[in-house]
Amino acid sequence: MDSASASSSSSEAEEEEPGRAPPPRMTTVSRHYFGGSSSESDHDLRVDIIENIEEDYGMFVWPCSVILAEYVWQQRPRFSCSRVVELGAGTSLPGIVAAKVGAGVTLTDIAHNTEVLDNIKQVCGLNNVNCTVLGLTWGDWDEPVFDLHPDIILGADVLYDSAKFDDLFAMVTFLLENSPGAVFITTYHNRSGHHLIEFLMVKWGLKCLKLLDGFSFLPSCKADSLRGNIQLVEIALEKEKPK
Ligand SMILES: C[S@@+](CC[C@H](N)C(=O)[O-])C[C@H]1O[C@@H](n2cnc3c(N)ncnc32)[C@H](O)[C@@H]1O
Repeated sequence: MDSASASSSSSEAEEEEPGRAPPPRMTTVSRHYFGGSSSESDHDLRVDIIENIEEDYGMFVWPCSVILAEYVWQQRPRFSCSRVVELGAGTSLPGIVAAKVGAGVTLTDIAHNTEVLDNIKQVCGLNNVNCTVLGLTWGDWDEPVFDLHPDIILGADVLYDSAKFDDLFAMVTFLLENSPGAVFITTYHNRSGHHLIEFLMVKWGLKCLKLLDGFSFLPSCKADSLRGNIQLVEIALEKEKPK
């Protein structure tokens, strides 16, 4: 979690007694600063994120998300007026930053995961941004997927379960084909040290446009609290389909 997290309410686990209301869950609001020195006192943008560390993977701001959000902020001229779809958005920090700098944003996560999707809606309200929130499960080809024509697809820490890699890359490849010239920007935690992303790009007919060490552009105040081998990759179709 980001060092700039501020807890708004929390509760230690208590014994649940019959007839007694269950204790409030571990809900916190973390604050994320961008621009200036990215500190509480000197910043250009603040985004507040509701997290619940006891719940789902999608209720926590993962380090990959902090890094991707910073990249969106630093590349903001490119995002203003662009159409953005975030996959596996979870608490949605990168997508919210994109919306704040003027993108039209669709935030997506597993279709049946109403807790995560409801939390995304609350996070949008908290930050006064008007994003579309859509249940989108990789590998499920529901109708709304065909109406998505993103210029930029975002995905933070979406490569963590090898059983889902093909469903994710099928979705990414479809979206890239559905929107000529689009790019997929993802941050991933290389936990195994293997060349996973290269393998998947070859398999799905994709090419790498840019590969960065996730810490290379992160302000030190954020980098100090994060760990791991995190890379940022920009990916496009190897060959655009003829129109
Ligand atoms: C490790 S979390 C990352 C969340 C967020 N992007 C971040 O970095 O803070 C992975 C996210 O992918 C979502 N996810 C997992 N499997 C998925 C699937 N099959 N379809 C869509 N989203 C999925 C999870 O619900 C979760 O929000």
